[in-house]
Amino acid sequence: MSEPSLRVLSVVSELYPWVKTGGLADVAGALPGALAAEGVAMRTLIPGYPAMLAALPATGVAVHDFASLFGAPARLLAAEVDGLGLFVLDAPHLYARAGSPYAGPDGQDFADNAQRFAALARVGEQIGGGLVAGFVPDVVHAHDWQAGLTPAYLRLASGRRPPSVMTVHNLAFQGQFPAGLLAALGLPPESYGIEGVEYYGAIGFLKAGLRYADRITTVSPSYAAEICTPAGGMGLDGLLQARRDVLHGILNGIDEAVWNPASDPHLPEPFSATRRAGRAVCKAALQARFGLDRDPDALVFGVVSRLTWQKGMDLLLQAVPALLGQGAQLAVLGAGEPALVGGFAAAAAATPGRVGTAIGYEEAIAHLVQGGADALLVPSRFEPCGLTQLCALRYGALPVVARSGGLADTVIDANAAALAQQVATGLQFAPNSLPALEQAIGRAAGLWRQPAQWQRIQRNAMRCDVGWRGPAGAYAALYRAMAAEAG
Ligand code: ADP
Ligand code: GLC
Repeated sequence: MSEPSLRVLSVVSELYPWVKTGGLADVAGALPGALAAEGVAMRTLIPGYPAMLAALPATGVAVHDFASLFGAPARLLAAEVDGLGLFVLDAPHLYARAGSPYAGPDGQDFADNAQRFAALARVGEQIGGGLVAGFVPDVVHAHDWQAGLTPAYLRLASGRRPPSVMTVHNLAFQGQFPAGLLAALGLPPESYGIEGVEYYGAIGFLKAGLRYADRITTVSPSYAAEICTPAGGMGLDGLLQARRDVLHGILNGIDEAVWNPASDPHLPEPFSATRRAGRAVCKAALQARFGLDRDPDALVFGVVSRLTWQKGMDLLLQAVPALLGQGAQLAVLGAGEPALVGGFAAAAAATPGRVGTAIGYEEAIAHLVQGGADALLVPSRFEPCGLTQLCALRYGALPVVARSGGLADTVIDANAAALAQQVATGLQFAPNSLPALEQAIGRAAGLWRQPAQWQRIQRNAMRCDVGWRGPAGAYAALYRAMAAEAG
């Protein structure tokens, strides 16, 4: 490596493969490995949820003891697991709980989420300040609202601290908490203002990160532009617009080892861009798993998604009759809003053999859908980046996507010009409305009836570079610029 090694601390609330509610975990898990090739040594600070502590090897050591961290003692553990350098914050009073990282088994957010994630951010700030002699970061990288106070604590600390970058994975989740918690969170009174952590009469964790970070990134160029507008800014567009000069859109990649159809243990038969025959076996397995008629000629649409309004799943539910009218089948893997879960279950019950569902979070089935479906539907109302369409490209399930955020940046629509140039990789539709979605489904069905055309698009899709090399290079350049500025 010609460039000198740079140390970066990643502060994040999810980490694949141990703790995941969405793409944030995938990104946090894959980026460090890709950065190593760029001469960047990244370590990840993550709360000590039960699943994280269980993943630690006996070689994990306590590198710091906190006499009191937000109300009780805590320890910072360091370990290397599966090639990832980890700092795990072992604070049982904050993290030793059943449920998701954010909510209990009843689905209710934990009442002390402000303290739980302020503690994470505070420890991130302290590692930035040299708490662990063996790893003093040159840059601190905070992800989403859960890490949003990190840039604030770094900037407000006395003494020298490294510069920070705040990444927005989803502006819809902002982490707002009562103003009365200011002192309890260790924030100085003067930070409570429009130029600080204040956000419409509350403390905004994401707002704080966006205000105090030296750089802001989000996960696609289109989303970077969208969040600077009133329509996409969710109340933060003024701040983001004002900081446009330090806001960058860097696309996500996918982990090409985890998502590789040639070696995927979840597929009944491997395949690749040049040897696609195994796909037919995967399609038959998918149809069997979802209770669909075993018809190799039926166009199978797949879905791998949170079942939410953001993901446009209500629109898709309304489009089911049109989809069936095209003679297609639908396989839905997802979890989320009860009304949508019930809606898809009812559609499956009403049309056996044509619509099938798998409700829940099922990693193995996600791979089977990508490997066996002919097309993947992603009708999101907004999509910062989206990872499932990247997996779909690699697995040859043609993505049919709303023209929004990262979806717009990663799929080339099969319009006449793109088909003529043989560069199409999927279908886009806009606006995100029921007629436009139905029309896109109809266009997909039309292409399906032209097998040579379909296969050309599939080949293009599978040849797309959806890995982390390019994005990691962009992050490395950003970190280096920040470190150089900081001197
Ligand atoms: P988001 O983070 O907004 O949910 P992304 O497309 O960025 O959307 O990432 C979603 C990630 O979660 C992908 O890795 C996808 O495969 C996975 N995923 C989503 N729903 C499920 C599910 N029900 N079962 C298994 N994996 C899922
Ligand atoms: C968020 C976004 C998604 C993005 C992911 C990882 O969950 O909703 O679009 O791909 O973060 O950055």
